[in-house]
Amino acid sequence: MQIKIKIGRPGEAKVDVLAVPLFAIDKKKKQLPSSLSALDKAAGGALSLVVKQGDFKGVAGEMQTIYPAIPGNAKRFLLLGMGAPDKLDAEGLRALTARAMKLGRAKHAKSVGIVAPAAKGISAPDACQFMSEGAVLGLYRFDEFLTDNGKKKKPVPNAALTIVYSRMKDASAARGRVKRGITLADSQNLARDLSNRPGNAMTPVLLANAAAKMSRQVGLRTKVMEVPELKRRKMGGILGVGQGSCNPPRLIVMDHNPGSKARTKAGGKKAKQPVICLIGKGITFDSGGISIKPSPAMGEMKHDMSGAATVIGAMRAIKMLNIPHRVVGIVAAAENMPSATAYRPGDILKMYSGKTVEILNTDAEGRLVLADALAYANETYEPVAMLDFATLTGACMIALGDWATGLLGSNQDLIDRVQEAGQRSDECAWPLPLFDAHRKAVRGHVSDLVNAAGREAGMSTAAAFLEAFVGKTPWVHMDIAGTGWTSRIGAYQGRGATGVGVRLLVELLSEWKPLKKR
Ligand code: BES
Ligand code: MN
Ligand code: ZN
Repeated sequence: MQIKIKIGRPGEAKVDVLAVPLFAIDKKKKQLPSSLSALDKAAGGALSLVVKQGDFKGVAGEMQTIYPAIPGNAKRFLLLGMGAPDKLDAEGLRALTARAMKLGRAKHAKSVGIVAPAAKGISAPDACQFMSEGAVLGLYRFDEFLTDNGKKKKPVPNAALTIVYSRMKDASAARGRVKRGITLADSQNLARDLSNRPGNAMTPVLLANAAAKMSRQVGLRTKVMEVPELKRRKMGGILGVGQGSCNPPRLIVMDHNPGSKARTKAGGKKAKQPVICLIGKGITFDSGGISIKPSPAMGEMKHDMSGAATVIGAMRAIKMLNIPHRVVGIVAAAENMPSATAYRPGDILKMYSGKTVEILNTDAEGRLVLADALAYANETYEPVAMLDFATLTGACMIALGDWATGLLGSNQDLIDRVQEAGQRSDECAWPLPLFDAHRKAVRGHVSDLVNAAGREAGMSTAAAFLEAFVGKTPWVHMDIAGTGWTSRIGAYQGRGATGVGVRLLVELLSEWKPLKKR
C-alpha cells in the first residue's frame, strides 16, 4: 500500500476523500476547532454547519460524509468522531485510518487524505506507524474464494493514503515509521491469510510451500523436513499426530541470521551469536482424531495452525526490518484426522527428546507436535530463549476469550517482557500460573508423561507438558486459542483470523537484551 506524509494545510490535499477526525464537540458551543476554519471556508462552511446543527457530536465511532457545494481540492469530507481527546491512543489511531480507508474503498476512491489528529503523549513518528498499521490492517479481506459468477472476483484497488500534518519536526523519522507500520501490518495480514485458508487449501505441504514462498520473497533461509527425514530424526510426536492423514506432516525451519556474513571474531573465527527460537503449532485441521470433536463449529479448526501463521508472519517482519539478532522460526505442521492409520488412545509415542507419552486423548495433539519442535530447537540451536505460539486449549478460550493471549513460562523476566511487549503493541498477553501440581498432573504411569490431564486448569497442564521438552532454556508459551481468530468485529479486524502475535514479537525482539536468570 502507498502511504505518504504531507506537511501543509489540510485544505491543500487534493483527494477523493479527506478524513477529518473531530474530538467530542462542546455541547453548548457547537464549534468546529479553529484549526479547521480555513478548510471549512474552502468548503463553503459545510463542515461547521453540520457541527452547528448538532448532527455531528464527535462521539467515538461516529461517521458523517459531507459533499462540499463548492468544488475544492477534496471531493468529499469524512468526519470521524474521536471522543475525548485525552483518550486517544494507539488503538484509536489504528481505528481512525482503518475507518477512513474502508469508506474510501466503498466509494471507489483512488486517494484518501487524513488530517492527523493531535494525539497527546504520542509522538508524530509513533502516530504515523499506528495510522499506517490501521490502514493496512483495516483494508484486509479474505477474498481468495470469492467469485463473480464463477470467475475470481477482482478486488477494488486500495486507495493511496496521505497523512496530512500542518507541521512536523521529525519528518524523516515519521516516514521510516510509516514503512515499519506497513511491514508489520502486511506481515500480520500474511498470518491472517494463512490461518483463514481452509484445511483443503492449507495442508502441511501447502503451509511449507507458503513459508518457502515468503522466504524467497524476503531472502530468508528456509528448510523443510519431509517424512523420511522426520523418521530418521525420530520425531515421534509429529509423526504420531500426522500418521492418520493422507496429507503428510512437515517441519519447517526459517533462519534469520544477520551475523552470518559480517560478525566474525578478530582471529577469523565465527563469534557465536545468541539465538532466539520461535515455535508455532501448525495443525492445518484438527478433527480431534479418534477422540473426535463434536461437529458444531468443528470447521473452526481450520484455524488450528494460527500459531504457525504467527511465526511465519513474524519471520517476514523480522527479516524485512532486519532485527539485529539471530531468530529461528520453527513450525510443526500436521493434520489431525481419524482413520485406519491414525494414532489411538492408549498408544505410547516415543518423542524426539526420547521421552515417552501415553495418548489419553488424540485431541490433545498440539502439545505433541510442539514438544518435538521445542526439543529440536533446544538441541540444535541452544537458544537463549524459546517462545511458542499455539491454539492449544479450549480452556484458554473460555478463560480469556478473544481479549487476551494466555501467557505461561519458565522464566519470570521473559514472561514480564512478553507481557510488556503485548501492552506496547496492543496485543494483550496475560500471565497464568504453572505450578508443580500441574507438572505432576501430566506424569504417566506406564509412560513418562500423559498428553491430557482432564478439564481442570487445562491451559496450565498443557503448558506443564510443553515444559518437559524445553530443558533449562528460558521459555514462554502463548496460548492463542481465543485470540487467534474472532467473531467480534472491530475497526481494523473482521471476522476470522487475527494474525495475533506478529506485532508483539517484533516489539519484543526489537528491544531484546540478555535475560535475567529466572
Ligand atoms: N485445537 C484445540 C484447542 C482449541 C479448542 C482451540 C477450541 C480453539 C478453540 C486443541 O487441539 C484441543 O483439542 N485441545 C483439547 C485438549 C484436551 C483434550 C486435553 C481441549 O482444549 O479440549
Ligand atoms: Mn485438538
Ligand atoms: Zn488442536
